[in-house]
Amino acid sequence: DYYCVILAGGIGSRFWPISTSKLPKQFHDILGTGKTLVQQTFDRLNKIILKENIFIITNEEYVDLTLSQLPHISREQVIGETVMMNTAACNAYMAEKIFHLNPNATIIVAPSDHLILEEKSFMKDILFGMDRASKKDILVTLGIHPTRPDTGYGYIEFEKKNVDKFHKVKSFKEKPDLETAYKFVESKRFLWNSGIFIWSAQSILNSFQKYLPDMYYTFESVEGYNTNREKNEVDKIYPNLQKISIDYGILEKSDNVWVISSSFGWSDLGTWGALYENFDKNEDGNVLHGNHVYTYNTANTIIKTNRDNKIFIVDGLKDYIIVDTDNALLVCPKNKDQKIKEYLDNIKKME
Ligand code: GDD
Ligand code: MG
Repeated sequence: DYYCVILAGGIGSRFWPISTSKLPKQFHDILGTGKTLVQQTFDRLNKIILKENIFIITNEEYVDLTLSQLPHISREQVIGETVMMNTAACNAYMAEKIFHLNPNATIIVAPSDHLILEEKSFMKDILFGMDRASKKDILVTLGIHPTRPDTGYGYIEFEKKNVDKFHKVKSFKEKPDLETAYKFVESKRFLWNSGIFIWSAQSILNSFQKYLPDMYYTFESVEGYNTNREKNEVDKIYPNLQKISIDYGILEKSDNVWVISSSFGWSDLGTWGALYENFDKNEDGNVLHGNHVYTYNTANTIIKTNRDNKIFIVDGLKDYIIVDTDNALLVCPKNKDQKIKEYLDNIKKME
């Protein structure tokens, strides 16, 4: 009765210019492992979940791309959204769809673009969470010990009553400002939300009915789940849904959230800064990806080019990001990597 939904509809804009709207980061082999992030995610989850019970929901534009990267799954398992509606909509949709397949389903929701180290420990937490979530009307999230006041994450305050690593959540704050994030980390009472969730189809539908009732009743009214009418019906309702994330829409409001305090290595590879942490660095702390990159007085800097014959000479940069592709060149201080989204909004362009 275990199912999995992989979310793969984001465009990874903070990861521009490698991530583009034609080829978002989840479809790249960012770490050079030989597998793209979505392939890694699928393989990891397929160790626990039957292949045919894994669904990938993404933009319509990336359905063929997804199938070409995961050739062993069927077309019905890749769901294309006509409009990007953020993560509440795709979760409500998938919960209804899976509920109609199996009312006793327990679902793990996994982002497609994370790095996970120590897979065994990850599996243990997932299996534990699935067991708990299948027995009770609760929403379970995997929590990560915070290492910096990152404002790009959700923060989970937990009641530390148990000796084990399963805690009732007291409060959930999505993307706090820097000052608040700093306080949260200092207090040691918070975990980061990994964005990996476990719940029964029934429980998450209950939460939608309570906190996003319009969305709930819209999806409930669809009659053709898992038939050839489904796509038509769902495509019609999609553009009118509320654009909100599952974190703001459900997790912040619910009072039946539980967190597993996880200890596997995790990075959401959300930004160049996060990626820098996960690459091998030379003695100056530089990450140099290119055949002819020469540095002087340069430290803690990423220099990345996809062009074999281009010569890079860099003198005097500290803590910078330089990324060079066929269409774009980004030069930006590492601590401003959250602003890439804004730079792109300003020019209304992300190719
Ligand atoms: N299908 C679909 N449709 N997928 C989407 C959409 C959409 O409209 N929007 C985003 N996604 C996918 C992304 O590809 C990603 O895998 C996942 O959903 C999460 O979306 P992000 O946009 O990356 O969210 P975030 O990083 O800002 O925040 C979330 O993740 C953090 C950890 O990485 C939140 O859950 C935070 O609380 C959490 O800390
Ligand atoms: Mg993310």
